[in-house]
Amino acid sequence: MKKTLIVGNWKMHLNTQQASLLVRRLGERVPQHRDIETVLAPSMLTLQPISLEVDRRKFRLAAQNANAQDLGALTGEVSFAMLSGLVHYGIIGHSERRKYFAETNKDVRAKVAAAVRNEITPIICVGETRVERTNHETKQVVREQVVTALRDLTGPEAAEVVIAYEPVWAIGAGRPASAAAITEVVAYIRLIIEGQFGKNVADAVRILYGGSVEPDFVANILSIDGVDGFLVGGASLNYQQFADIVTKAHQLAAAKEQHA
Ligand code: PGA
Repeated sequence: MKKTLIVGNWKMHLNTQQASLLVRRLGERVPQHRDIETVLAPSMLTLQPISLEVDRRKFRLAAQNANAQDLGALTGEVSFAMLSGLVHYGIIGHSERRKYFAETNKDVRAKVAAAVRNEITPIICVGETRVERTNHETKQVVREQVVTALRDLTGPEAAEVVIAYEPVWAIGAGRPASAAAITEVVAYIRLIIEGQFGKNVADAVRILYGGSVEPDFVANILSIDGVDGFLVGGASLNYQQFADIVTKAHQLAAAKEQHA
């Protein structure tokens, strides 16, 4: 059985001291679970100090972004090559990067290749805006995002990636997408990957849901077939809420295993 993957994206929040405090509090409240993989994505500034403080049996680290080139005259940038060995995962193509930093599917593709080349597992964010949903363009948009992002990968490489389905309209909205909407798109994402790489790869890829995930919604969303975990924004900054999300996911995984 796949472990449930829970990723906390801290976005541009928390200075070094605050980040360190949150890690300490989480460490007190989140035990090591056999069936859960918990990942923290602090800012670029705090990744290094956090890596020295964090209990690695409980938490892995992710970068929120990095440059697709390994090195060069690119003032202000940090590459996946530099992050190699420091983080397990890299979030790529988050809707905020697409919207505020004009990242295209082509950029995402190059970053995915860079992450894989540097032994960092990409967490590729895909999802439609409200307008695209209203215009019935969800499938077309998600297909283009997924297919382009994975284009440079071999089957075995693609099998390792994580896709986060984050409907843009559900991010920070206080309410996640409906189970029906999540079910449909997650199944569609597997179908796209099956077309590109075959069924084994499609089954192996982990697919997360993201957008207003809070403890109250954990059971409902994790019961959806094909959802392997969460990408959490706002609630990951609150140690009680994030620890609660991990606990609830663990309870659900344990119950599932008993029934299996
Ligand atoms: P949210 O953010 O949980 O605050 O909605 C999710 C995300 O942007 O990944």
